[in-house]
Amino acid sequence: MTDAVFDKMGASLHTRPDHPIAIIKEAIYAYFDAAASDPARLAAGHGRSAFSKFDALHPVVPATANFDEVLVPADHVSRSPNDTYYVDDATVLRCHTSAHQSSSLRAGERAFLVTGDVYRRDSIDCSHYPVFHQMEGVRVFEKSEWEAAGLPDGTALAERELKGLLEGLAAHLFGPSAETRWVDAYFPFTHPSFELEVLFNGEWMEVLGCGVMQPAILGAAGLEEGAVSAWAFGLGLERLAMCLFQIPDIRLFWSSDPRFTKQFRAGGMGSRFKPYSKFPPCFKDVSFWQPEGKPAVSENDMCEVVRGVAGDLAEAVTLIDAFTHPKTGRASTCYRIAYRSMERSLEDEEINAVQERVRGALADGLGVELR
Ligand code: PHE
Repeated sequence: MTDAVFDKMGASLHTRPDHPIAIIKEAIYAYFDAAASDPARLAAGHGRSAFSKFDALHPVVPATANFDEVLVPADHVSRSPNDTYYVDDATVLRCHTSAHQSSSLRAGERAFLVTGDVYRRDSIDCSHYPVFHQMEGVRVFEKSEWEAAGLPDGTALAERELKGLLEGLAAHLFGPSAETRWVDAYFPFTHPSFELEVLFNGEWMEVLGCGVMQPAILGAAGLEEGAVSAWAFGLGLERLAMCLFQIPDIRLFWSSDPRFTKQFRAGGMGSRFKPYSKFPPCFKDVSFWQPEGKPAVSENDMCEVVRGVAGDLAEAVTLIDAFTHPKTGRASTCYRIAYRSMERSLEDEEINAVQERVRGALADGLGVELR
């Protein structure tokens, strides 16, 4: 794991009251608090007045919690070290807040929201960053609740309440006239599974994944299978904040530039980001031959190196060419790196030095042959 991503741990953007991520979190909390005491939203028989809220659970979790306990199959791509940051064989930086579903249920929680930073190896562009924030929601029903609702089983009640609640959440965040639609989805931990999309600036945008929890997860957490059912959802806070506050680049959430930070205040859901002048970008290409007799260097590997060296100066990494040499059979790859600071103007000399270090790290760390 590179130090670059380690350095982000503990930043806790979602608990800084004036930070856009925390503002969205609080708006969602307020919605669920109101819903919990509204019998029209939460099924009759719900004996609890509020969702428990957790936003300080540590992001380093056992791989079993991140994957096995939520039934992620052994061969699922998300388990690959190309996608998930492993601390060691048995420990990861959580790649989703679903990593806390089982332990929270085991601790006796029956209706809860978990917010936290999650980590994924990924590409570099204006909407991807190796750390972002998710909120997980879970709520368990007992048999008496679906019987009281006159429904044949717990799945029917969970699905009905879940969809109603999340449509209400979309209206709460995007306004009462927001258009939404449900799309069938697949997640290992829920069945049936859905994604909620919101029509935003003329385009359908996915805002969350959700579904009825797999009974086996409830059973393994000590609940009596068949006597309970539950729903779960997970949503990404950056995506919501970027839309609602019109924030154009995900790196801005990490900026300490007062021109950014001073634009937001606790409770200020109506703020719109006012862009300040951008400094010019600087583009650099790097071409290399893939290592022979070793797995190819992936785009995520490439981005990891660039992030490790350039940090937040890297704005985008784009694959611009890939070919296989017809005679030697060697594979060549070329990426274009866009460098841009959000705080200052970059000098040629500085970027040339950064680019040299990126090249060095590719050659020494990943074993490619630079061209
Ligand atoms: N963990 C899923 C993700 O990160 C979201 C999700 C949570 C979906 C809970 C269904 C239920 O994409």
